[in-house]
Amino acid sequence: MFENKIVAITGASGGIGRAIGEMFAAQGAKVALSDLTPPIEAATEMGGKAYNCDVSSEASVIDFIDKAEAELGPIDIYISNAGVGAGNGPHVAGGTNESWESSWQVNVMGSVYAARRLMPGWLERGEGRFVITASAAGLLNQVGSASYSATKHAAVSFAESISIEHGDAGVSSHCICPQYVRTNMTAGVDFSGQREKLLEPSDVAEALRQAIVDEKFLVLPHPVAGEYYAFRAANPDAWLGGMRKMLAKLKETKSYIFKDS
Ligand SMILES: NC(=O)c1ccc[n+]([C@@H]2O[C@H](COP(=O)([O-])OP(=O)(O)OC[C@H]3O[C@@H](n4cnc5c(N)ncnc54)[C@H](O)[C@@H]3O)[C@@H](O)[C@H]2O)c1
Repeated sequence: MFENKIVAITGASGGIGRAIGEMFAAQGAKVALSDLTPPIEAATEMGGKAYNCDVSSEASVIDFIDKAEAELGPIDIYISNAGVGAGNGPHVAGGTNESWESSWQVNVMGSVYAARRLMPGWLERGEGRFVITASAAGLLNQVGSASYSATKHAAVSFAESISIEHGDAGVSSHCICPQYVRTNMTAGVDFSGQREKLLEPSDVAEALRQAIVDEKFLVLPHPVAGEYYAFRAANPDAWLGGMRKMLAKLKETKSYIFKDS
């Protein structure tokens, strides 16, 4: 199914992005990996190409897509995976404007810039697949980071819009919403008090492969996140109460994912 497909991935030097690259390369796809510095080692290992791309810059995203398409051919699958997060600071609006803006640019606009470049060609061809690595925080919330929560909700919403606006024209989208995964983003965090298992990046890549095969929009490497999502919709007050309890526990262990900025 993925033999000779051209797959472009952002934030691909390690973690989830790299694991997704490895999964597609193992399936016979040609991968274009990008990050703030070109992931040369990863690309060499996968027989792919490495590019520089800062997803918060539209010019940089265009440059990545154009160079990858010139070298490999038209992109079939785009994985908008780069992501950043920052802690709240002293209260829910305590983060700096710069940190909110950075989360908005990387977690949301990085996908908008890529879709803007790819969509005309995909609509003409009548096919294309856009994948966004959002987070379970985009369905639920990330305690300790209002900016991560808000921008990941926006990322889920943008993925939904692609499916709604262009699904009938052959352009599909998938939204990956994991809970915690062992990557640089979660390094040094104490997960001993967490209910859910810390997954490996390869588990997330396999969940994406399966979701594409099954044509499922929502990719839930931790299936229980789907249950929490349904509970939130049906019982918002009870859900908020549970999240407050989770925050109280987090304050005791100080195992926040994101540092303040
Ligand atoms: N690790 C988790 O528990 C977890 C859970 C849910 C969702 N996610 C999401 O998964 C995605 C991948 O994160 P990860 O966990 O593999 O962590 P990671 O830190 O290994 O990967 C994030 C990558 O994004 C890159 N990046 C940051 N800013 C960028 C920019 N402006 N332009 C281009 N690249 C940039 C980083 O260099 C890094 O390689 C992120 O979107 C993250 O929010 C992670």
